Amino acid sequence: MSRSSGLHGSVPISGAKNSVLKLMAATLLAEGEFVLRNVPNIADVGIMAELLEAMGASVELAPPVCRISVPREVTPEAPYELVEQMRASIVVLGPLLARFGRARVSMPGGDDFGHRPVDMHLAGLQELGATFTTEHGYIQGRADHLTGADVLLEYPSVGATENLLMAAVLAKGTTVIDNAAREPEIADLAAFLNHMGANVSGAATSTITIEGVESLVPVEHSVVPDRIEAATYLAALGVAGGELTLVGARADHMEMLVQKLGQMGMSVTPNDEGLIAIAPRRLTSVDVATLPYPGVASDYKPFIVSLLALSDGVGIVTENIFGGRFGYIDELRRMGADIRTEGHHAVVRGKSQLSGAPVKAIDIRAGASLVVAALGAVGETVVSNIDHIDRGYDDLVGKLAAVGANISRSVLS
Ligand code: UD1
Repeated sequence: MSRSSGLHGSVPISGAKNSVLKLMAATLLAEGEFVLRNVPNIADVGIMAELLEAMGASVELAPPVCRISVPREVTPEAPYELVEQMRASIVVLGPLLARFGRARVSMPGGDDFGHRPVDMHLAGLQELGATFTTEHGYIQGRADHLTGADVLLEYPSVGATENLLMAAVLAKGTTVIDNAAREPEIADLAAFLNHMGANVSGAATSTITIEGVESLVPVEHSVVPDRIEAATYLAALGVAGGELTLVGARADHMEMLVQKLGQMGMSVTPNDEGLIAIAPRRLTSVDVATLPYPGVASDYKPFIVSLLALSDGVGIVTENIFGGRFGYIDELRRMGADIRTEGHHAVVRGKSQLSGAPVKAIDIRAGASLVVAALGAVGETVVSNIDHIDRGYDDLVGKLAAVGANISRSVLS
């Protein structure tokens, strides 16, 4: 990849990784054939498909369509080999307990995000009547009957809200989740569950109410567009300048980011196709703090750091969600970025250009941030370990090349 002379054209935005994985887990709640549309062609969807297949479901994955046939009985187990590859596998816990009364799920490990416990998932499910033991690295859950309860989450955890939501739809009586996460992907999951026959209200607000029902049915559903993918292309545009239409993107799912980008000098406006964004050659730095939705998402942060590394001025980025998540900054420094980190803050002094270098992706968004930075680097940048990028991006290289970036993908022998 080498310095680009501006991005122009249309980028199709795929279905959201952080939604489709949960929708796939939710299929475990009913017997029969589901059809998911707008499914992104990413490796994590393949891992979730493998996980469902390991339990006994059959999955026909042909993005953007995925057909899942769930049998009457499944083996309610998420093995280490799959959970280790994808932490989000933990969201099978709620649906398995709800429909089968038992689940055995490998404890998720750590990553660059720092320590990521699942205590809130378990505490919430315990309030509905589940019991847990942990042995040999596995969480073993049982629930002869789940009963609706009032659950106050200590923090609006996305995963805990989703696990609880999927357990509560088949519990007896009413569940109220307070301090629930409000992400658009939660609203998508609630819409999917309601379509299946569940009775969920208040999704996308802090209080979600679920009236349990006896059983659910399989349905067809189109996955909500990926706001994190859309934000990645906005950051790329911010670095390279130009004009992009993000087809299918929802500006109303990323209002805080749109506001920040506006302060930096980019114009982002919804239109019939999705949204249109126009960026001058160089943006002006701002300070950014990550917060639960509707705040600026932690997932946006790595490519916001890249954008600030090439903007005019100094921006302070504060991470409030995860303990870690600054590991990729060493890679950006190898490209000449001027970034100082202290605790959960990064002080980014913008430069007019970076310098192309060999760099390594350490996770999905960190990998994308290196690609974004490379658009503003003189000379060639070679990003390795791109299997991380493939976990969450549907054809990042092809989509950027189609709008004028000088980028290609090669297979190393
Ligand atoms: C999801 C997203 C991830 C995003 C994150 C925050 C998926 C597949 N992943 O992750 O991309 O960055 O939301 O928007 O959808 N926590 C606990 N105990 C728990 C659960 C969470 O302490 O039981 C902490 C975590 O360590 C973290 C914070 O809560 O510090 C947020 O985590 P959570 O919202 O649960 O994120 P995930 O669902 O893991």
